[in-house]
Amino acid sequence: MALRHFLTLMDFTADELNGLISRAIELKTMHRRGEIYEPMKNKVLGMIFEKSSTRTRVSFEAGTAQLGGHAIFLSSRDTQLGRGEPIEDSSRVLSSMVDIIMIRTFEHEKIERFAEYSQVPVINALTDMYHPCQLLADMQAYVEQRGSIKGGTVTWIGDGNNMCHSYINAARQFGFKLNIATPVGYEPDGTLVAAAGNAVTLSHDPRIAATDSDLIVTDVWASMGQEEEQKAREAAFADFQVNEALMQLAKPDALFMHCLPAHRGEEVSAAVIDGSQSVVWNEAENRLHAQKALMEFLLEEALNKSD
Ligand code: CP
Ligand code: NVA
Repeated sequence: MALRHFLTLMDFTADELNGLISRAIELKTMHRRGEIYEPMKNKVLGMIFEKSSTRTRVSFEAGTAQLGGHAIFLSSRDTQLGRGEPIEDSSRVLSSMVDIIMIRTFEHEKIERFAEYSQVPVINALTDMYHPCQLLADMQAYVEQRGSIKGGTVTWIGDGNNMCHSYINAARQFGFKLNIATPVGYEPDGTLVAAAGNAVTLSHDPRIAATDSDLIVTDVWASMGQEEEQKAREAAFADFQVNEALMQLAKPDALFMHCLPAHRGEEVSAAVIDGSQSVVWNEAENRLHAQKALMEFLLEEALNKSD
């Protein structure tokens, strides 16, 4: 069997993903009880960051320490990767020294190339195209709050970006209907939408997309790397704010999610993100537990492969 990586949600089966969510919930309980559980003893996680991060860095680093392992933070600003050492060479070298690697970078092709040359599992900690770790945390939060999301309706409001793409994959894997509302010109990748078939509906009307939804999700209007487009995007997305009027069109017990960091007054009003339907802190905390479950799974798979 080939070495397993987690570059998108489609790298795992639906059963494996649901298994990870259940395991994350278990690990959260164990952590809160103060149980010591150290399957990563003597294991090392390499963490490559070519973009900023708060949640991802801290959750991977803290999670590895809690599992008994050690994490090494590698920024492109002070490694040879940032000075042009080929990705293939970096992958060969790093994967000969550590047990598992996570990468946050720009082009998705870069992480694919890194994984191709790696001897150890590689985790996508965000690319321009996907953010699958966040979806594990979000799906865990939904299960904790409401139970299974299968058969439910989720609404994505705003940019057809990396988070939106991972929600499209999640709609396929977790079996929910996804209504996406973006401004014209900011639609998600057409190939991904086509692959999702009936699971995904595209529109340019946030009100229609939000109606009768179980979960409303949004994200920043300008992602990392798009800072220069901020002003143009503010104009294009002005009618795409998730506010109380929009939330009222969803089901009365609908939840609100945002991967954070958030811009209150832009993509979401303060009343919504700080209101009773918002579960953003639950989502953020779950990054820790979901990624612990993910690392445990990938290390176990890698061990079985070498048996
Ligand atoms: N949601 C998320 O990935 O946050 P960071 O950019 O802080 O890691
Ligand atoms: N879409 C955002 C997500 C940040 C966690 C970005 O890529 O900047």
